[in-house]
Amino acid sequence: TGLTSLDYGFVNTAATKSAITYIDGDAGILRYRGYPIEQVAKNATFLETAWLLIYGELPTASELSDFDNRIRRHTLLHEDLKKFFGALPHDAHPMSVLSSGVSALSTYYQDSLNPKNPEHVELATVRLLAKLPVMAAYAHKKSIGQAFLYPDNSLSFVDNFLKLNFGNLAEIYEVNPVVSQALERLLILHEDHEQNASTSTVRLVGSTEANLFASVSAGINALFGPLHGGANEAVLTMLAEIRDSGEGVARYVERVKNKEAGVRLMGFGHRVYKNYDPRAKLVKESADAVLEALGVQDPLLDIAKELEQIALEDDYFKERKLYPNVDFYTGVIYKAMGFPTRMFTVLFAIGRLPGWIGHWREMNEDPQTKIGRPQQLYTGSVERDWPVR
Ligand code: CMC
Repeated sequence: TGLTSLDYGFVNTAATKSAITYIDGDAGILRYRGYPIEQVAKNATFLETAWLLIYGELPTASELSDFDNRIRRHTLLHEDLKKFFGALPHDAHPMSVLSSGVSALSTYYQDSLNPKNPEHVELATVRLLAKLPVMAAYAHKKSIGQAFLYPDNSLSFVDNFLKLNFGNLAEIYEVNPVVSQALERLLILHEDHEQNASTSTVRLVGSTEANLFASVSAGINALFGPLHGGANEAVLTMLAEIRDSGEGVARYVERVKNKEAGVRLMGFGHRVYKNYDPRAKLVKESADAVLEALGVQDPLLDIAKELEQIALEDDYFKERKLYPNVDFYTGVIYKAMGFPTRMFTVLFAIGRLPGWIGHWREMNEDPQTKIGRPQQLYTGSVERDWPVR
């Protein structure tokens, strides 16, 4: 068939060109549209970064305020969607609720489904950015049995999201600026990461000319797995297990090195970063600052630091170039903010949304795009005749 290479996990094969994000895994470099992640995290807002990733350049002040206003105007969900959320079990994982909700958007908003129509694409972009956080908060409220709140469009993107999650009908909610700034920073750090599994999924689904809601819903499902976005939840589960079992950090590391079934150091290792993950460095700084500002003392943070210390000095991890990734410290911060563990990957999804949209749009605008269709090497039986019985 002319097939020359077999590449499990796409370790060596580029499936596309892209101008959005640059990574040098050996040097620990990550840039959004050329801007170093450290500078973006320090100076930008989430929506400003979203504009940069999606449209290619920084927005002017009026472009940004227009974008922000359009997103605020689209935060309301169709009322019937409440019945949709109401029909799901209260103990469903919020990631499953979220991907189902995003799929359902294509049933309610049929005027924005055509990937070839720029007005549809623009409308779907704004609707997703506006509605995903609201649906995520619904998933949270549902899981704790509280009433859904309506979005408060006098608030910024992040503050509105915090109020939808932590406000209730009985009290006036005041945003804590420490939490707001820290969450904005974490969301920015998650906004794009070139051809990771969920973004590649969004592209593959989109390459069939499926609509943006359908493509993003697929991306959310890809993100759910513990080797990808689900790692932030898995890290906290791991830290809590170490605390509760009393086995001690060193013993846990031994079990990882012995490759006991199902035992990995979650939040460690990365397909592209073989020196350090620049996002992890920024997250670790935030973890200390946020917990201190909130007056939270969490023994899980101490366990995480001890784990990192032991692993970084151990030959097993050194030889394999395994370092903490972005997910290692995020969970401890989200927990201090008050999010339940099962919401952590949902927060990753909100962060990653602009990247998914940017890649989907870049792919649709590229005249060289073809339907994604990997090859295989057939290892089954040679031709044989059906037995005559
Ligand atoms: N703990 C223990 N051993 C590990 C780990 C780990 N976290 N990660 C990799 N290894 C070992 C692995 O067993 C293998 O050893 P050997 O050569 O003896 O067989 C070697 O390191 C290479 O690993 P790999 O599985 O071939 O590496 P990969 O590039 O296919 O996988 C990864 C990358 C991120 C899936 C993996 O490192 C992992 O499972 N990490 C834990 C989950 C995690 O934190 N995921 C979040 C990634 S960052 C956020 C995101 O973008 O989603």
